[in-house]
Amino acid sequence: MRPPPVTAAVRVRRAEVSDLDDLVALEEATFDTDRLSRAQYRKHLDSETAQVLVASANHRRFLGTAVVFYRKGTTVARLYSIATKPQARGKGVGSALIEAAEDAARLRGCRALRLEVRKDNGVAIGLYERLGYHRIGEYARYYGDGADALRLEKAL
Ligand SMILES: CC(C)(COP(=O)(O)OP(=O)(O)OC[C@H]1O[C@@H](n2cnc3c(N)ncnc32)[C@H](O)[C@@H]1OP(=O)(O)O)[C@@H](O)C(=O)NCCC(=O)NCCS
Repeated sequence: MRPPPVTAAVRVRRAEVSDLDDLVALEEATFDTDRLSRAQYRKHLDSETAQVLVASANHRRFLGTAVVFYRKGTTVARLYSIATKPQARGKGVGSALIEAAEDAARLRGCRALRLEVRKDNGVAIGLYERLGYHRIGEYARYYGDGADALRLEKAL
């Protein structure tokens, strides 16, 4: 019999201090520039204007994370970062994290979720567009290494 799909077992919850090692390890393994440091993750865990979400599977196995930022005076939330562990990719974990980020933003009264993505990141752009995000802008040399960005948004 085939094992159940990973998505069936994926849970998304708020990150805790005990997740810091996994968060930092994934950040370092995933991004070469514009990384969140351990101190920044630690600060965001207790912040009123940030939510760090963690996807985990059976036995609390860490699979990935998404970071959502809020700002006073705007109902547009920002999906600042998303990453899943390389061995867990293509199994719906990223989609589950994005949907959880949307739910979290809706609960805070936000009317839209916005994000920036590297123009050359076809996998991420394809995933966002499949989930209903559309392009609202383009920014040259947005990232620390000079890469261009697309800005995408979805109405919640
Ligand atoms: C972008 C990312 C978060 C997606 O996470 P994920 O867990 O693979 O997400 P999902 O499984 O829900 O969806 C991935 C989609 O990409 C597709 N895909 C195409 N090539 C793929 C590849 N080489 N590996 C994984 N998925 C791939 C999958 O088929 C899936 O599309 P579908 O749902 O239409 O079938 C993950 O690839 C990642 O962490 N990338 C590095 C960090 C990054 O680029 N973050 C986004 C910018 S901040």
